[in-house]
Amino acid sequence: MSLFSEISKIDGCLVYPDQDLTKFTTMRLQSRGDLVEIKSVEALKKLMSLLCESKKNYLVVGWGANQILPSLCDNLIIHLDFDFDSSYLDIQRDEYFLPASLGLNQLTNHALKFGLVGWEVFTGVPASLGGAIYMNAGTNLGEIGSLIKSVHIVTPKGELREEIITSKSFSYRKNHFVEEGEIIVGAVMFHNGTNSEIPQKIREYLEYRKKTQPLSTKNCGCVFKNPHRDLQAGRLIDLMGLKGVTLGELRISPKHANFIENLGHANWDQFQSLVNIIKSNMDCFYGIEFELEVKIPYH
Ligand code: EPU
Repeated sequence: MSLFSEISKIDGCLVYPDQDLTKFTTMRLQSRGDLVEIKSVEALKKLMSLLCESKKNYLVVGWGANQILPSLCDNLIIHLDFDFDSSYLDIQRDEYFLPASLGLNQLTNHALKFGLVGWEVFTGVPASLGGAIYMNAGTNLGEIGSLIKSVHIVTPKGELREEIITSKSFSYRKNHFVEEGEIIVGAVMFHNGTNSEIPQKIREYLEYRKKTQPLSTKNCGCVFKNPHRDLQAGRLIDLMGLKGVTLGELRISPKHANFIENLGHANWDQFQSLVNIIKSNMDCFYGIEFELEVKIPYH
């Protein structure tokens, strides 16, 4: 029996061979490949053990906000879409057990309603909770890692494990506990009490992002990590005069230089070329080697 027909027998796994994957990343680079959508942790455990037996490589996409995909993906693309009853967020709790596929925007709406202290740190970050935890996403206000008590993870063998978060679990845009091939499936989050000023803080921050970032364009968020808290990649690229520079259908955003916009039907190769041009300019100009924030997987 083929791998796909075995996968389609798993309850909660939906198989879509040879799909257009363009819409699975916010940058919308042209991409095709085989896709599996997962509805539950149980389904993912079974899928992982099957993939492990058949030695099939895979790649997980959350909201695809900080990720780009190759034109042709050899790896199986796994998209988590766990069932979640949103009435869970109708009341304020001390702790929340949340699925990895939940959008941060839903959590921001919850924080706005109840004024949860700490939850302003991920305002406007376009990500699923799992993706945000994986890269310790954040803003100038802080990082999501500071709000996580524990993380549930499915291993490549299809086992579920729990990681208890400590002060060493995260650093800037990085986690230090997800091993190769593991997938974050959920997390326990907390807050630091409530404060009536939080909703205003969140609204102001959303306005700041709207004013300073090209939110209505096809992009993958900030492309490079800031080399230092006070040395921002956007400012450095801007100072080199690269704002507005285009390569094919890609453009360094005229609004924020650490964003690359897809103006049409750009692809992975063009993205790589533009990134390499920016990197070598940065190296020559400042002698700094830039680290990518956006995840670029191997084919
Ligand atoms: N700046 C420029 N030119 C530019 C862009 C920025 O001079 O083209 C200057 C700004 O004027 C400001 C400074 O650089 O003085 C910092 O800019 P900004 O406030 O936009 O912050 P950032 O460090 O560029 C970080 C995160 C963003 C997050 C913003 C706002 C990183 C790599 N980026 O950007 O996160 O939204 O703070 O909190 O840490 C992302 O991670 O994908 C992302 C967009």
